[in-house]
Amino acid sequence: MKIKKYEGKLKGVINIPGDKSISHRSIMFGSLAKGETKIYNYLLGEDCKSTISCFKKLGVNIKLNEDNVTVEGVGLYGLSKPDEMLYVGNSGTTIRLMSGILAGQQFETLISGDSSIQKRPMDRIMTPLKMMGADIESLNGIYPPLRIKPVNNLRNIKYHQKTSSAQVKSCILLAGMYSQKPVKIVQPKISRDHTERMMQYFGIPLIVQGNEILMETSKYIVGKEIFVPGDISTAAFYMTAALLFEGSEVVLKNVGINPTRTGIVDIYKKMGADITLENYQIRNNEPSADIIVRHSKLKGIEIKGEIIPKLIDEIPIIAAAAAFAEGTTVIKNAAELKVKETNRISAVVTEMKKMGIDIQELDDGMVINGCEKLKSATIDSYDDHRIAMTMSILAMKAEGESEILNSHCVNISNPDFYDTIKSLCY
Ligand code: S3P
Repeated sequence: MKIKKYEGKLKGVINIPGDKSISHRSIMFGSLAKGETKIYNYLLGEDCKSTISCFKKLGVNIKLNEDNVTVEGVGLYGLSKPDEMLYVGNSGTTIRLMSGILAGQQFETLISGDSSIQKRPMDRIMTPLKMMGADIESLNGIYPPLRIKPVNNLRNIKYHQKTSSAQVKSCILLAGMYSQKPVKIVQPKISRDHTERMMQYFGIPLIVQGNEILMETSKYIVGKEIFVPGDISTAAFYMTAALLFEGSEVVLKNVGINPTRTGIVDIYKKMGADITLENYQIRNNEPSADIIVRHSKLKGIEIKGEIIPKLIDEIPIIAAAAAFAEGTTVIKNAAELKVKETNRISAVVTEMKKMGIDIQELDDGMVINGCEKLKSATIDSYDDHRIAMTMSILAMKAEGESEILNSHCVNISNPDFYDTIKSLCY
């Protein structure tokens, strides 16, 4: 995609596509429930399509209708052996969460994904699953493909997570649905809690106290209606664009504002952003609101500690905003970025440097000094949707014309990205 410098403002009201994390989970719980689950605002990005295709291969009838997705749930013990290896594409959430479900099945499965997935560590889920008695092995060290074989019973577990990860936490909770004893998880820092909220919505007895989660054993669930709120991680790109272009005002409708995800709003407000929230609602245990963002002069800030899991996916775009903030922004405690779709610390630093941004790599983050002018560049997206979208926004600020290579990877989480940006530009 070639992108020229944009001299205007961004104006408009936009609907934000469904939250990726909640969309994945809605198919998983819908499949494991008895009866029909109807999902509205399901995200039809590549990752969430992969989750649908995996559950179809496990015998679940899933239909894409005009304004919803219906899942004919088969119950906890109703999945059937797939004819072939399950393929998750680029989706880390699909492989890690599904492994928890597959560990409880009475048939063997193989699961893998694209070349990026084949470099993502799976020891983080294999360790707790083995502690629960699961028979799971990697065919390539700690990386996919994974082979999961049936066992008689999964055991209970009290698991202290080493790193804060919602994917690991959710994998254990899903496996826990196949254990006859309670599951307890202690988190070092609280990560996104969509699994816990959805389990409670489906009536699974689960108690959260601070950093601890206790799930009891009664697990029969029935189908429900789920309305997926807009993805704040997608809204983040439009939010940032509105902040950076003078005269902009953008209304982002119906965005999920689960407190485990709103780190970007808190940080932008601390940086001086004019952001307001209105029309609060709660549906299926998930809060949402409209977010109104106006162009603002930002100042540098330190971002570290407890807030990191609440904005982990937004760090690339926050780094882009920091490039226009007055002073220095320091991001620390974010080493997890190195094991995302690509190493997002080195990708952000390398590509932003090409545009002349003063940015240095840290072992667990980065330091960015604000500047006024960016130069055009040919940018590698590393086939990472969030790198492509971040660098596209920066390309709109850079002199001349830039090119984002393999920009089609935005389809992973936001197929409408370029059309929506165009619709906001006058
Ligand atoms: C996700 C959890 C996060 C996040 C990913 C989606 C989820 O990963 O980065 O994009 O849906 O549970 P970790 O749990 O590995 O931090």
